[in-house]
Amino acid sequence: MQNSHLDIVGLSKQFRDLEVLKNLDLAVMKGELVSLLGPSGCGKSTLLRVIAGLIKAEHGDVILSGKNVTGKPAHKRNISVVFQNYALFPHLSVANNVAFGLRARGVNKQFIESRVNDALALVRMTEYADRSVTVLSGGQQQRVAVARALVVEPELLLLDEPFSALDRKLRESMQIELKNLLRDRGITAIFVTHDQEEALAVSDRIAVMSQGCIEQFGQPTELYSNPSTPFVLDFVGLSTNLIGSVVEQSPTVTAVSTDAGVVHVDGSFQIGEKLIIAVRPELMRVNADVDESVSNSIKVTVDDVMFLGSKTLVHGLAPDQQRIICEIPGTSHKIARGDDVSMSWLRSDTLIYSVA
Ligand SMILES: Nc1ncnc2c1ncn2[C@@H]1O[C@H](COP(=O)(O)OP(=O)(O)OP(=O)(O)O)[C@@H](O)[C@H]1O
Ligand SMILES: [Mg+2]
Repeated sequence: MQNSHLDIVGLSKQFRDLEVLKNLDLAVMKGELVSLLGPSGCGKSTLLRVIAGLIKAEHGDVILSGKNVTGKPAHKRNISVVFQNYALFPHLSVANNVAFGLRARGVNKQFIESRVNDALALVRMTEYADRSVTVLSGGQQQRVAVARALVVEPELLLLDEPFSALDRKLRESMQIELKNLLRDRGITAIFVTHDQEEALAVSDRIAVMSQGCIEQFGQPTELYSNPSTPFVLDFVGLSTNLIGSVVEQSPTVTAVSTDAGVVHVDGSFQIGEKLIIAVRPELMRVNADVDESVSNSIKVTVDDVMFLGSKTLVHGLAPDQQRIICEIPGTSHKIARGDDVSMSWLRSDTLIYSVA
């Protein structure tokens, strides 16, 4: 197996009696862009700060390029951090902001100049070199912050919600730029976000965090198509979720009684076992011809038709008010609120979770 570039082993961090990181492990490969995705307060920034050496954990180790850096102060780790609020020096020009880290290391002037020029070219800010950072737009300031972080050629780049203050369009273009930049340079980075779309868009792999633990770590497609827990299912993407209990079973097919009626799932479960049955919206179909032996079908009344540009979300309500969500590519002129329709899905497209 390939050696990892960053290894986090058994990290635990407490703030007074609050356990913020719980025996957490994470391994990041060289050149990888890994996102930490999770709700507010789950410990993302704390994990980043421990990796950077800005705070100390009670237990565990941080190993970078095979060296244990746990006891090293932040300035002795070759790790750069980009924060959400840019944290640029307002009294310095763009070029001097970028040069700051190199000056602090006492390297010679010509070397600094050429490295700063490279970094500014990389983030397409060359023409702004002599301007004050205070006159820049949010996106430009964030590019300067990225250039400042990269100019020292860090072994690891940490980004804590770097684009959250930017508008959607700018955020999306910064995501693409950053991803390409890191890929071209082979830079290893950890990117914190609580925006699942952003995580899916930029990451090689995503670590979904909940309450100080990593719930699942995998490629975006893997997380979306095969979430390992109900938490990951809910946090990444939309789904119809039916809760029910097993009423009948055979070795291969199980009948589950849910609020929306009896549905069948593949596999064998215990009678009485509680299950969450989930279906992604694009795998749900409206008024389709179904083969009952391999599909489930539920009668619903259309509650809402949401046109989202390239796709339309149709929300149906089963008689007990259970919500069923279906995604249709493009527009759907044929379906309107109040229509009675059937929504169906293949049994093989069902996600199943056992709940205690
Ligand atoms: N210096 C501190 N002292 C006490 N508690 C702290 C400190 N820093 C963080 N916490 C607590 O630790 C928990 C995790 O905080 P953290 O900032 O890591 O969350 P986060 O996942 O980054 O959330 P967000 O998405 O809101 O930025 C929170 O409950 C927070 O209140
Ligand atoms: Mg945070």
